[in-house]
Amino acid sequence: MRNSRIIGAGMYVPPRVVTNDDLSKLMDTSDEWIVERTGIKERHYVEDGVGASDLGVEAAKKALEKAGLKPSDIDLIIFATLAADYMMPGSGVLLQHKLGCRNVAAIDVRGQCSGFIYSLSIADQFIKTGMYERILVVGSEVHSGGLDLSTRGRDVSVIFGDGSGAVIVAPCDAGRGILSTHLHSDGEHYDKLMGYAPASCRLPRITHQMLDEGLQFAKMDGKFIFRMAMDKFPAAIEEALQANGYTINDLDLFIPHQANLRISNMVGKKMGIPDDKVFNNIQKYGNTTAGSIPIAITEALDQGKIKDGSLVCLAAFGSGLTWASALIRW
Ligand code: ACO
Repeated sequence: MRNSRIIGAGMYVPPRVVTNDDLSKLMDTSDEWIVERTGIKERHYVEDGVGASDLGVEAAKKALEKAGLKPSDIDLIIFATLAADYMMPGSGVLLQHKLGCRNVAAIDVRGQCSGFIYSLSIADQFIKTGMYERILVVGSEVHSGGLDLSTRGRDVSVIFGDGSGAVIVAPCDAGRGILSTHLHSDGEHYDKLMGYAPASCRLPRITHQMLDEGLQFAKMDGKFIFRMAMDKFPAAIEEALQANGYTINDLDLFIPHQANLRISNMVGKKMGIPDDKVFNNIQKYGNTTAGSIPIAITEALDQGKIKDGSLVCLAAFGSGLTWASALIRW
């Protein structure tokens, strides 16, 4: 039996920085309100014409470079996003072409905030069965075009940003690498954080009235999401530790999906994880959904916070609802 491990990670955010003060010129909000509720200081937005696949290509190039590989070495692409470039086809095939990979399979995953861990888990299974040797996993989001940048949408729009992270997954000896992954969903609460339009269950999928009502923008019941996050993040961490016979004290680093700094801090406290073992970078990027964990992994590696042998727990919760965790011996 073999395990899989991350052999390279890369990230990319578009150059345009949007500060809280910039947003307060578009809507009734303030730097103070946003920082107090979310920890976010700034985020990045794409220019017109740049999609999730374009950000993903840049992140993937860096991950390949770190792994010492070329696009032609990749056996499978897994692309996690809730903001696909088009309704069809998926962003994975666009990345395959733009990056110059062979005609390998490109799987799109719509696990929202848990999309990266879902994708990592799929990669892990393909490596463990021996089917593939080098898998590119990308988490990439372009939220900016789907945000209501007026006072009507301020509760949601201040939280999200654009960005992408990518990792290369390859085989390693059993006992290290990805020790386990744990994936969950509960569609009962699908409408607590969702984009209503365009929708295949509506005829037609989008109307002028829907646009006037702003149904193309994400809607969130913030208080409900907060409460659920406080339940599901700890459960996901606990599940990963228990499955491998570890406790919180064994952890070297916890990398939460960067949902909201208040959520990450409160989860850390609830679980008894020291602050210096909880990785946060939402202050600079906002919530980049499927992009947030691979971006965080890249920065944690660059900052020396993940070392050879480190025990790292990834955990995510979000729209769906979905939640997931992974325990990795680096
Ligand atoms: N700027 C200024 N005021 C605002 C803003 C804003 N951006 N957004 C909302 N307000 C106002 C509201 O209109 C309300 O005004 P009112 O009292 O006059 O009605 C007031 O601020 C308080 O609103 P609440 O919704 O009660 O604010 P709350 O303290 O709950 O904070 C927030 C809202 C930040 C969304 C909070 O509920 C939260 O953090 N929820 C978690 C959601 C989250 O982090 N999601 C991340 C994405 S999901 C994921 O990745 C897990």
